[in-house]
Amino acid sequence: MAMNLQVKRVDVSGANFIGLRGAGRMSKKTIGWMKGQGVRAVAHLEIDGQRKALPIRLDDLPESMLAHTLLTGFNRQSFVQPADMAAVSTKVEVLLTNQEFGDKVAARLIDEAAPADDIDWSKLPFDLNLPERTTMYVAKVRHTYDAKKNTVRGSWEAQNPDHSKCLFPFSDTLESPAAQNKHYGQLCFEGIKAFRTIDGRLVIFRLRENALRLQRSARRLGMTPASVEWYMEAIRQAVLANKDLIPPPGNMAAMYIRPVQIGSGKRLGVKEAGEETLMIFVSPVGPYYPNGFEPIKIRTPNSSIRRSGNGLTGRVKAAGNYVMGLIELIFAKKQGFNEILWIRNHNGQYYPEEVGTSNLFYVIDGELYTPELSDTILPGVTRDSIIKLARALGIKVHEGEMPLTEVLARATEVFSTGTAAVVTPVGSITHLKQEVIFNEGKVGWMTQLLYNALVALQEGRFDDPALDGISPDLLEEFKADWIFYLEQERQPAV
Ligand SMILES: Cc1ncc(COP(=O)(O)O)c(C=O)c1O
Repeated sequence: MAMNLQVKRVDVSGANFIGLRGAGRMSKKTIGWMKGQGVRAVAHLEIDGQRKALPIRLDDLPESMLAHTLLTGFNRQSFVQPADMAAVSTKVEVLLTNQEFGDKVAARLIDEAAPADDIDWSKLPFDLNLPERTTMYVAKVRHTYDAKKNTVRGSWEAQNPDHSKCLFPFSDTLESPAAQNKHYGQLCFEGIKAFRTIDGRLVIFRLRENALRLQRSARRLGMTPASVEWYMEAIRQAVLANKDLIPPPGNMAAMYIRPVQIGSGKRLGVKEAGEETLMIFVSPVGPYYPNGFEPIKIRTPNSSIRRSGNGLTGRVKAAGNYVMGLIELIFAKKQGFNEILWIRNHNGQYYPEEVGTSNLFYVIDGELYTPELSDTILPGVTRDSIIKLARALGIKVHEGEMPLTEVLARATEVFSTGTAAVVTPVGSITHLKQEVIFNEGKVGWMTQLLYNALVALQEGRFDDPALDGISPDLLEEFKADWIFYLEQERQPAV
């Protein structure tokens, strides 16, 4: 049988499989344990240009075959380095065509969920860090305009019932120059993080809330909202297809997930797009600010530039919000600031709103304050988590308006929160060319405690001292509501 084989990846889909981190050989004991666990694997192969997923059940294969396949072992690198492809292909071809085992395939099992060993997790910048093998998710929906209800109608669920058909190798997609989003800016997006917990489980933090926000953003921009469950499953699939890109816990690293929904129909003239596309890509990332958990310097805008206004799109994640203030941010960075503190002018008084891509908090007299949500503030999922965590830790939290002059005069600590920013201490705010420094430019105790508590929850360190002050019932509630496990229960590593 002449086949043109190319091994794409070997995927262990056994819900209870863990271990075999990186390359290495399996002992008979390990194989026995795996068999006992009913471990299954799926080899994703490309045969004559066609993708095939072939299930392997260890029980189906004789011990000798297993030992041969597993112990001769393909090096994990073989699957990702083209130079080794030929060797891998040959072996798989041999196994595929081996009459003795019929159509069963054996390949070296790799715990695909283990962190990739060709990435330096401790040095990741907050940027696209995409190895070539990355998979992305792309789905499309056609919609029509319902004049009676002034809305577009289409169904992501009906038009894309099978998420597995929406997975493709990452590529720079080619779109028509006339695609609606290219000129009329019909684009909303999300930012979500997946983590690897200290006991090796893969989790997405507060996935449901982000899916809900994507739904609201799509609706606000005249696009078709999918059901929260459909969005969640699409995102889960995009992450599962790239799970070795979820960093090990620590180093402020995580997998950043970026769903983007756009009006992709070809248009000239502002109207409904006719067609929309949802793209989801992922990238392992490090801390948002290059210095990690260090106080940043921010300033208010020098000009009248604002990111949003009443009745505009500030409360949803519309691309337009970010481009509105970009020129001001570029200028501020040149001056040595990390971010812009967006403010609102009301009757000659300035009120703080949010900080670049994060929400603002400040501490006054040992209590926590944050601006009340409005048309011009994004309801941050991290903001909500910090408010709930702080209250659970016995800290009094106020959501309300306070003039900037008062914040500058009274705050003892300032920090900002966001999926990317996590909890970022703010060392100083410069307003009207006056710099006000908080807590001598050092990280304050409340900032540190809330950062520790949030990251402990994300990384599954439930016995972290930062969570000590939370009642067991509330902690269970947070765990149940906020932590979305990508897979079912996994067994400890062998
Ligand atoms: C403008 C803006 N504000 C606040 C946030 C923080 O939101 P979240 O905590 O949901 O990431 C973000 C980031 O998404 C943002 O872009």
